[in-house]
Amino acid sequence: MLRPTRPDRNLALEMVRVTEAAAVSAARWSGRGDKNAADGAAVDAMRFVLGAVQMDGVVVIGEGEKDEAPMLYNGERIGDGHPPEVDIAVDPVDGTSLIASGRNGALAVIALAPRGTMFNPGPCFYMMKIAVGPRGRGAVDVRESATDNLKELSARLKKPIQELGVVVLDRPRHDDLVREVRETGARVLSISDGDVAGAIATGWPNSGADVLIGIGGTPEGVIAAAALKGLGGEIQGVLHARNPEEQSAAEALGYDFSRVLRTDDLVASDNCFFSATAITDGDFLRGVRFTEFGATTQSLVVRSRSGTVRTIETFHRHDKLQEFTTGL
Ligand code: FBP
Repeated sequence: MLRPTRPDRNLALEMVRVTEAAAVSAARWSGRGDKNAADGAAVDAMRFVLGAVQMDGVVVIGEGEKDEAPMLYNGERIGDGHPPEVDIAVDPVDGTSLIASGRNGALAVIALAPRGTMFNPGPCFYMMKIAVGPRGRGAVDVRESATDNLKELSARLKKPIQELGVVVLDRPRHDDLVREVRETGARVLSISDGDVAGAIATGWPNSGADVLIGIGGTPEGVIAAAALKGLGGEIQGVLHARNPEEQSAAEALGYDFSRVLRTDDLVASDNCFFSATAITDGDFLRGVRFTEFGATTQSLVVRSRSGTVRTIETFHRHDKLQEFTTGL
């Protein structure tokens, strides 16, 4: 007789407490015009809750170097020091400008994977990316033109090109890309910030987003890879330097600007965990709401091995909220 396997630990379910704490803390700064204060509040809350999790974690993607980031800096050890050994990527606020101006689309996010399985972006700030959901997997190639990718995707999704939604960060560097996408007949879904949410939207049913294309943060690309693994989608990237000096410096450290980094290169393990809590409203989650009794949050919690995708709505009592903010 087959014995049922005992379910093992889903760390993503513990990570949701971490992103919830970050989101609620950052949300207090929504619309106040101070992105550093919002980010600082999210970092403090995230660090506080992470410290209590049973794990031996190393921050691979954090808030930068130790001197500039007193907490959640790259290389920092996190957790109570007991197994499992994990790599951690945090983005306490993806979309700091969005939250400062009270606009939609800001998320608190975290990704975890077994030690040594996460791509370390090092000094490589930007990456040219293409991301698709489960049905588009295998139909795109970051080395090909937007036109060719959209034709392939249209065929794969059995959807006229005019109905494709293409998420693009609104940046002058994307002017030609936007022109090209529009010439194919496809629709540009312009976002002013937050391409982790943009990538996830491609894997979210009925979001209207079929593909994300363009140059965005490399750390955000790694985090999006962890989410898309669980959602069944795909992301590809090629490192992009802002100038020849930046490229030479990174090449000296062994980074290859011609290599295509696929989902499995960005996060090698098939047992990775992802949690995101909306700070402001977004395409697939509602942002933090403060009420007279406390606050409510909505989160997306994904584990790649099981492919489980959960949306979790949580009610946080006012006195409990105080605990993690006053504990800082
Ligand atoms: P921050 O929250 O750190 O400001 O990042 C927001 C973001 O829009 C990312 O989602 C994206 O990958 C990156 O900035 C794009 O960089 P840039 O704003 O320099 O074009």
